[in-house]
Amino acid sequence: MTIFETIKNRRSIGKMTDQRPTRAQIEHILEAATHAPNHHKVEPWKFIVLAGIARAEIGAIMANSLAKRLGDTANDKVQALLNKERTKLLRSPIVIVVAAEQPHQPNVLAIENIEAVAAAVQNMLLTAEEIGLAAMWRTGDAAFDPHIKQWLGLAPEDHIVAFLYLGYPAIPKLARHPTSFAEKTTWLGWEE
Ligand SMILES: Cc1cc2nc3c(=O)[nH]c(=O)nc-3n(C[C@H](O)[C@H](O)[C@H](O)COP(=O)(O)O)c2cc1C
Repeated sequence: MTIFETIKNRRSIGKMTDQRPTRAQIEHILEAATHAPNHHKVEPWKFIVLAGIARAEIGAIMANSLAKRLGDTANDKVQALLNKERTKLLRSPIVIVVAAEQPHQPNVLAIENIEAVAAAVQNMLLTAEEIGLAAMWRTGDAAFDPHIKQWLGLAPEDHIVAFLYLGYPAIPKLARHPTSFAEKTTWLGWEE
């Protein structure tokens, strides 16, 4: 498959089987991430691979934080919401948290570190596609939750760019029909 075909074939897949990708597959995806472009060569990415019980442990923290945000937890509707939050990461056998370091040097911009890590995430998505794995980039409130960052061993000022869900697809891919680049592109100084 060419890169172009891989790019076009890739789709977010939210439903995965319980089959866990191998350690070698996960390491292959992580290695792809480290080849992303990054300004000043700061390699601002951090990865935390969550498998097995770690997914439930982080889910418990997410549910606690949601309970605090919601206040009154004494009704069935709220309990259902909390249960959903608690089990969110169990939707795939592996979740890789991908975070961007807050820069320490004055010439390195925080936004550029985040941009570099977003490029790393795209490398991961495309590599997953290439080796036949399903992947889904998710964020949500948990990405901004200081308790989650602390539990993951991240600094409070680090930015969680993605919870990358990985596994084997349990549903078929649908075709994507993006708006044509022609509607998004301005050509300046182009002479035929
Ligand atoms: C920064 C970012 C955050 C995202 N967060 C979520 C999310 O929290 N939940 C979700 O279902 N999808 C999330 N997505 C995935 C998008 O929903 C998905 O890429 C989009 O629907 C296009 O589908 P495709 O990836 O199949 O092309 C996120 C994507 C990006 C780039």
